[in-house]
Amino acid sequence: MAKDIAVIGTGYVGLVAAVGLADFGNRVVGVDLVQEKVDSLNAGVPTIYETGITEYLGRNLEAGRLSFSTDIEEAVAESEVVFLAVGTPPGGDGNADLSQIRAALESIAGAKGGYTVVVTKSTVPVGTNRWIKEELERLSGSAPGEGFDVVSNPEFLREGKAVYDFFHPDRVVVGTESERAREVMEDIYSALYIRETPFLWCNIETAELIKYAGNAFLAVKISFINEMANLAEAVGADIHKIAKAMGMDGRISPKFLHPGPGYGGSCFPKDTRALEATAAEHGVASRIVTASIGANAAQKERMFEKLARMVGGDAAGAQKASGGPASGSGPVADEAAAASGPVAAGALSGKTIALLGLAFKAETDDIRESPALTMAERLLDAGAHVRAHDPKAVETFSAAFPPGSHGAGSIEYASDEFAAAEGADALVIMTEWNEYRNLDLERCGLVMKEKRILDTRNLLDPEDAAAMGFTYQGVGK
Ligand SMILES: NC(=O)c1ccc[n+]([C@@H]2O[C@H](COP(=O)([O-])OP(=O)(O)OC[C@H]3O[C@@H](n4cnc5c(N)ncnc54)[C@H](O)[C@@H]3O)[C@@H](O)[C@H]2O)c1
Repeated sequence: MAKDIAVIGTGYVGLVAAVGLADFGNRVVGVDLVQEKVDSLNAGVPTIYETGITEYLGRNLEAGRLSFSTDIEEAVAESEVVFLAVGTPPGGDGNADLSQIRAALESIAGAKGGYTVVVTKSTVPVGTNRWIKEELERLSGSAPGEGFDVVSNPEFLREGKAVYDFFHPDRVVVGTESERAREVMEDIYSALYIRETPFLWCNIETAELIKYAGNAFLAVKISFINEMANLAEAVGADIHKIAKAMGMDGRISPKFLHPGPGYGGSCFPKDTRALEATAAEHGVASRIVTASIGANAAQKERMFEKLARMVGGDAAGAQKASGGPASGSGPVADEAAAASGPVAAGALSGKTIALLGLAFKAETDDIRESPALTMAERLLDAGAHVRAHDPKAVETFSAAFPPGSHGAGSIEYASDEFAAAEGADALVIMTEWNEYRNLDLERCGLVMKEKRILDTRNLLDPEDAAAMGFTYQGVGK
C-alpha cells in the first residue's frame, strides 16, 4: 500500500530517494531548508547533476505524487514515514557531525501527529538511531514504542549512477526491531520486493555498521591498489595487468582495483574517519582503516609531487612515455621524493597547468574531498597559474576556488580542454570523464607550451602519447 512520506534533505541522497519513492507510487514531499532548491525542484529543474534525474523528477511532479517544501512541520504532520537524508559531514573530532540530524529531529518531534516511522538514510555512527528514538520521545513527550519507531536503512548509491542504483540496488539493508516498522518498510519497497531484490533485515547496530564496513572496505581496496601501483612504477611492472589478473580471482573481484589519485567524495573520506573514531570510542583497534586514510592522503600528495618533478625536469624522476621504471625510484626513493616536495614544487612557480577534471569522479558535479582540490591547492601555493576544466563541476569547484589570484598563484576556468591546454607547461587529468579518454592529443600538443601529461586516471595510451612527442606519466605503469 502506498504511503505518505516526507524526505528531509534533498541533496544527492534525499532527492534521488524522493523521486524514487514517488516513482514506486508513494506520495512524497521532499523537504529542504534552502528555498531556491525547493523552488527549482518544484519547477522540475534538478539541483544536482545525476543521470536520469530530470526525467524521474518531471514525471512524478506531473503525476502529483511528488512535491517539495521548506515547511518541515507540515510535511511531517501529513506523513506516516519520515526519511532522514540530511548531511552528516565530518566533525572536528573525526566523527560525523550530527547537527543537521539534531535540527531535523526537533522539527519532527514538534510536528508529531500520530505513529511515525523515522527511517535514517543519512550515514550515521553506530548508536545514532537508538539515540534518535530516545531524542524524539524526549522532545515530543511520547511513550516508548507509541510515537516513533526508527529504522536504519543505509544508502549505497553511487553518485553518477544514483538513479539507476535506487531502482536496482544490490541489496536493501533494513535495521529495525519493530515488527510494525518492518511492515511499513515492506510496503514502501514493495516494487523492489516484486523484482526479488535481496533484503537484509537486521538489528539497528548491524545496519549502521554494514554501511561503514562496506565503505571502509572499498576505501582499503582502492588504497591497496594505489600502493601496488606505486610499487609497480618503482619496479617496472604494469599495474593494469596486475589488477586484471587479481580481479580474475573470484575471491577478489575486478571492481575498485583501478589505481588513481586517491579516493574523494562525500563518503569514503568521512566514513573511514568516523569508523576510526567509533572503534576508538569502543577501545577497538582499526589499524587497517587508519592505514588506508594515511595512504590515501599520501596518494593525493604524490600526484602533486609527480607533476612537480615532471615539470622540474626528467632527472628528478619523470618518465618518458617509452616506458621503464622511473630513474632512482623504489620505496626509499619514493619517501625521498615525498620529502623533497617543497624543492620540486619550486619548479611550478609561474608555470601554467591545465587541470582537466575537478569532480571527485566522473558523471557528477560533486567536488567534496576531490583529489583535484588538493592538486589545485598545492599548485596555487607553488605559484602556478591553473587553467581548469570540467564538464559538470566548474560551478561547484569555483565556489571553493573563485577565479583570480590565490596567494602566489591564480586560477581560471576554461570553456573546453583545448582552451585549458593553451600555452600550458603541463596537462593533468584528475577525473575519468569519457571526453578525456578520447582527448585529441594532437590538438593539445599544438597549443601547449610543453608537451607533458600527468594522467592520474590512466585514461590515455602511453604509446600514443609518446608517438606524439609527449612526456607522459600515468599511475603504476
Ligand atoms: N552522496 C552520496 O553518494 C551518499 C551515498 C550514501 C550515503 N550518503 C549519506 O547520505 C547523507 C546525505 O548525503 P548527501 O550527499 O545527499 O548530502 P547533501 O549535503 O548533498 O544534502 C543534504 C541536504 O539536506 C539539507 N538539510 C540540512 N539540514 C536540513 C534540515 N534540518 N531540514 C531540511 N533539509 C536539511 C541541505 O540543505 C541539503 O540539501 C549523508 O549522511 C551521506 O553520508 C551519501
